[in-house]
Amino acid sequence: MSDRDGKRMAVYGRSGSGKTHLVKSTFLNVCDRVVIFDPEEEFAKEKGFHTVRTLEKLLEVLSDCHDSSFKVVFVPEVRMEERQLHEVSLLIERLQEPYKEEMSNKKLMLIVDELSLSFPLNSKPAYDGFDRLCSRGRKRGISIIGITQRPADIGMRFRGNLNRIVAFNFSTPNDLAVIAATCGQEAVSAVRELKQYQYIAYENGAFTVNGP
Ligand SMILES: Nc1ncnc2c1ncn2[C@@H]1O[C@H](COP(=O)(O)OP(=O)(O)O)[C@@H](O)[C@H]1O
Ligand SMILES: [Mg+2]
Repeated sequence: MSDRDGKRMAVYGRSGSGKTHLVKSTFLNVCDRVVIFDPEEEFAKEKGFHTVRTLEKLLEVLSDCHDSSFKVVFVPEVRMEERQLHEVSLLIERLQEPYKEEMSNKKLMLIVDELSLSFPLNSKPAYDGFDRLCSRGRKRGISIIGITQRPADIGMRFRGNLNRIVAFNFSTPNDLAVIAATCGQEAVSAVRELKQYQYIAYENGAFTVNGP
């Protein structure tokens, strides 16, 4: 894995634990090309971001940006999240093809909030765009941040091979089992003891406790 490759990060934690807040305060400016898939309109008012609600509008914004930097929030239609994340993913994969061919050095960050709505555990095989992006994104310079309150309920392709896992407090047994399997039992004990807005960050086989 090289620095050129895109990275994949998960942010887990129960509702209200501080997931969206952390992503807003830490990750919106690390890349100058950002697409946020935002079912609950948590990011729509962020400074410098265009909000769009259709694929056509998204395409328009992407083709209008002459210096090829963009910050765009895509709000999917209610109950169309799965299909629309699929479509947005296909578009992004195509957009980053030149990066893979080494004809471009422009990375892209895709942030998906409430991932269990758009990439559930048993997603429809026809909507495999995001699944593909999880494996094909790296060589295309696409970094992905997936945010969810229920890690046990999202597709396996996203959960496997993550570069970084951030976990706020939660206590549901099947979600803690995901932490146990990916970060180890010590991390589970740490997660259980986290105070408000604290989180663990797991990377390269070790974790740290962060936050207030
Ligand atoms: N580190 C923090 N310090 C102060 N307030 C915070 C912090 N993290 C989150 N909050 C506040 O807590 C509420 C819930 O946070 P949010 O990020 O929306 O949670 P989640 O996305 O996990 O449901 C928000 O009003 C947010 O402003
Ligand atoms: Mg949130």
